[in-house]
Amino acid sequence: MIKIHGLWKRFGKLQVLAGMDLEIRDGETLVILGPSGIGKSVLLKHIIGLIKPDAGTVDVDNTRITDLEGPELFKAVQNMGMLFQGGALFDSMSVEDNVAFYLRQHGDPDTKRKHSKAEITDRVSHALELVGLQGTQKKMPSELSGGMRKRAALARLVVYRPKIVLYDEPTTGLDPIIAMQINELIVKTKEELKATSIVVTHDMFSALYVGDRLALIRDGKIAQIGDPDTFLKIDDPLIKFLYCTISQDPRKLKEKNHHG
Ligand SMILES: Nc1ncnc2c1ncn2[C@@H]1O[C@H](COP(=O)(O)OP(=O)(O)O)[C@@H](O)[C@H]1O
Ligand SMILES: [Mg+2]
Repeated sequence: MIKIHGLWKRFGKLQVLAGMDLEIRDGETLVILGPSGIGKSVLLKHIIGLIKPDAGTVDVDNTRITDLEGPELFKAVQNMGMLFQGGALFDSMSVEDNVAFYLRQHGDPDTKRKHSKAEITDRVSHALELVGLQGTQKKMPSELSGGMRKRAALARLVVYRPKIVLYDEPTTGLDPIIAMQINELIVKTKEELKATSIVVTHDMFSALYVGDRLALIRDGKIAQIGDPDTFLKIDDPLIKFLYCTISQDPRKLKEKNHHG
C-alpha cells in the first residue's frame, strides 16, 4: 500500500502540490489524469523518492520514503520501477545491454548475490519476449522505432520484477496502434508481476483500458477518484470533456481482446 498524506511542493512561485492525499491499493492499477503541467510527473517523482516534498509524507508498505536519503532510500525504492516519459534508453548500448543494465549493476536485492551470465541472458530474453521484442538483443536503440524503444524501456524495467511500476505518460506521442500495444503491455505486466501500477496520462482511452481506478488532479490535490463507472458518472466538466475525446469505450474492446 502506498499512502500519500498532505503532500505540498512548490517551485518558486508555482504551487504544484497543495496538500495532496492519496492511497494506492496493493495490486491495483491507478490512473492519474490531468492536463499538462498540473504536477503528474512531480507526483510520481515524490513516490519514487527523486523529489522531496516541502511538507507531507509518502509511505510505501509502511516505510516513510520521504524521510530517507542515500543508500536507505535506494534500498526502499529498489522494488519500484518507473517508465520515464521519454522512455530513454542508453543510446550507445545494445538492447541486450540496456535491458541487462540493472541486473549487472545490482545483483539480487535480497541476497546481494551477483546474477550469473546465463541467468542474465535468460531474464533478458524473457523480458524481451514479454514486450514482443524477442530476437532484438543485438540491435542498437537507433535501429528501433519509437514504439519499439518504449517497449525496450519497459523490458529494462520488468526484468528486475518491480513490485510497484510507475508509468509516466506511456502512450503520449505514439500512434494509436502502438499506443494500444503499450496499453496491452501495461495490463500484461501487471498480471505477470502481480504489481501495483500507477499510470499518469491525459489519454482517456488508455486510462479506461488499463485502470482499476481513475483519479483526477486539480489545484495540487486529487479532485476526483473512483472505479471507472463511478468516475465517469461524476459531474465534472473535465471528466466529461476527456470522455468526449474518445470515440469508443475501450473497456468493451478489452473484453473482446481478453475473452476471444
Ligand atoms: N525541478 C523543477 N523545477 C522547477 N519547476 C518544475 C520542476 N519540475 C516541475 N516543475 C514545474 O511544475 C509543474 C508541474 O510539472 P509536471 O509534474 O512535470 O507536470 P505534468 O503534469 O505535465 O507531468 C510544471 O509547471 C513544471 O514546469
Ligand atoms: Mg509529466
